[in-house]
Amino acid sequence: MARKRFVVGNWKMYIQSEEEATKFAVTLRRKARSIPGVDVFLAPPFTLLPAVAKVLESAPIEVGAQTISAFTESKHTGDISGAMLKNFGASFVIIGHSERRAQGETDMLVREEILRASEAGLAPILCIGEREREEGGGHFTRIQEQLSSALMNLPPKAAKKLIVAYEPVWAIGKSAADALQAEDLEEMVIFIKKNLAEILDRKTALKIPILYGGSVEAENASELITKSGVSGFLVGHASTNIDSFLSIIQSCKK
Ligand code: PGA
Repeated sequence: MARKRFVVGNWKMYIQSEEEATKFAVTLRRKARSIPGVDVFLAPPFTLLPAVAKVLESAPIEVGAQTISAFTESKHTGDISGAMLKNFGASFVIIGHSERRAQGETDMLVREEILRASEAGLAPILCIGEREREEGGGHFTRIQEQLSSALMNLPPKAAKKLIVAYEPVWAIGKSAADALQAEDLEEMVIFIKKNLAEILDRKTALKIPILYGGSVEAENASELITKSGVSGFLVGHASTNIDSFLSIIQSCKK
């Protein structure tokens, strides 16, 4: 059973200026020291990664990227490779976010990206999630497919640093009232754990933290963390306000 708690901030394109990003990182560095027991990760956009990584260099906060190229070199206009991310100071990368899948990122590309992350020494945070909930439980099938296509026969090295973030697409970018309820989340966490144990081996699977994302705010974080069995959160809009982000981190303190 993974014991640590994790809170990952995914800034998407919300914060765009270096001034705002640096100010946020300085405050986070100061305040997060008083929240032991929670591993805090921050994923700014590529352009702000070096500045944020510099501020957080000596802080116990991981800085990473929101995506990674499925390729390693040369002819890929606009792509950023794992090696480039490493040079920027990244230690992890979010992979297969639904907003990228919506732009055409396939299950196959997601798998390649996990491999590239691992080769570069970056911890992959694999996002999975159904577009909508179906009466007949079809959403469970989609989760199963996403997990197996991304992780089947994964090299042990890649599985070692893996984090899985369950993000139902319909719950993303709204407010706490629209998020998944704790009891439904608990059911899904059990389902994901069972699948991970079948796809990888049981021992490895037990160590993989499972996070929830989709309208996590200061208002629902405590309930979700105490009642659902998740190891933490992947936070979008609420991670761009320092007070709400800190409050979510506080909720994860044991
Ligand atoms: P949200 O985004 O917290 O704004 O819903 C979560 C995510 O997309 O990772």
